[in-house]
Amino acid sequence: MADADITFDDQHGVRQVERDTDSAPLLEIQNLTKTFGSVISLSDISTTVRAGQVTCVLGDNGAGKSTFIKTLAGVHQPDHGQLLMDGQPVSLSSPRDSLEAGIATVYQDLAMVALMAIWRNFFLGSEPTKGWGPFKRFDADKAKSITRKELSDMGIDIRDPDQPVGTLSGGERQSVAIARAVYFGARLLILDEPTSALGVKQAGVVLKYIVQARDRGLGVIFITHNPHHAYPVGDRFLLLKRGRSLGDFAKSEITLAELTGLMAGGAELQQLAHELQRPDAPAPQGDRAP
Ligand SMILES: Nc1ncnc2c1ncn2[C@@H]1O[C@H](COP(=O)(O)OP(=O)(O)O)[C@@H](O)[C@H]1O
Ligand SMILES: [Mg+2]
Repeated sequence: MADADITFDDQHGVRQVERDTDSAPLLEIQNLTKTFGSVISLSDISTTVRAGQVTCVLGDNGAGKSTFIKTLAGVHQPDHGQLLMDGQPVSLSSPRDSLEAGIATVYQDLAMVALMAIWRNFFLGSEPTKGWGPFKRFDADKAKSITRKELSDMGIDIRDPDQPVGTLSGGERQSVAIARAVYFGARLLILDEPTSALGVKQAGVVLKYIVQARDRGLGVIFITHNPHHAYPVGDRFLLLKRGRSLGDFAKSEITLAELTGLMAGGAELQQLAHELQRPDAPAPQGDRAP
């Protein structure tokens, strides 16, 4: 059964997704464990992703974020745990399995060819297979016009689809990758730290496209170490630390301040503030003896 009812909003001509929290989630991740030799990269990790919602995965370097998404992308096989799509167990034993299940992963390095035109990159690596794009033969004019239209539907104005991808900003490149996943019929979009190499303004651009993909009814997994990027767009927050879960919260269960505190290791940060303080400085407010 579909996770969300999609209807048309005539006024804006956009698809609206009614959030239905009673049906089975698009993806359910249950008790995932992955070890590499003696390193426990993921230990007993669970969360859910719903259609038309964004699940954020937060954690510092080495937390297990990349291992987590590689398991969903079919690159790694979990040692324990299971994945359910639409309530049914699935096994993703290769990246192709994952693609065919409608999971599109956008890696940080993007796998784009800088000197190649935008439209060629848009169609790169998506040679026709079941459920993935309508072309048996390659029609360049059609490919260009589709690229232009799909990007403009996401609110991305490119001057010329023949322009090399290398001339786009980092934020625009991420956006092209997101538009491509949407066009090729992904149901679940996974973004590995799409904003971490970007400045404030460009990060904002990418956050806008995450919201667009969500509003088109996709489930989104957004990996980041920045709670200020995660909180405004997220519906659910999974916090990882050294492979363990610090919690899996719905937005109503956690504030931005709490999320930031958990991420920074609130107590550790306070301790550090003490250690960094000048010896002759007055003690911070609230710390003084009565
Ligand atoms: N292929 C691998 N072989 C051995 N250890 C790995 C492998 N991939 C990840 N790890 C280890 O798993 C832990 C989590 O790494 P990773 O998932 O890349 O974290 P993050 O993306 O949050 O920075 C790290 O200790 C890392 O060294
Ligand atoms: Mg990583």
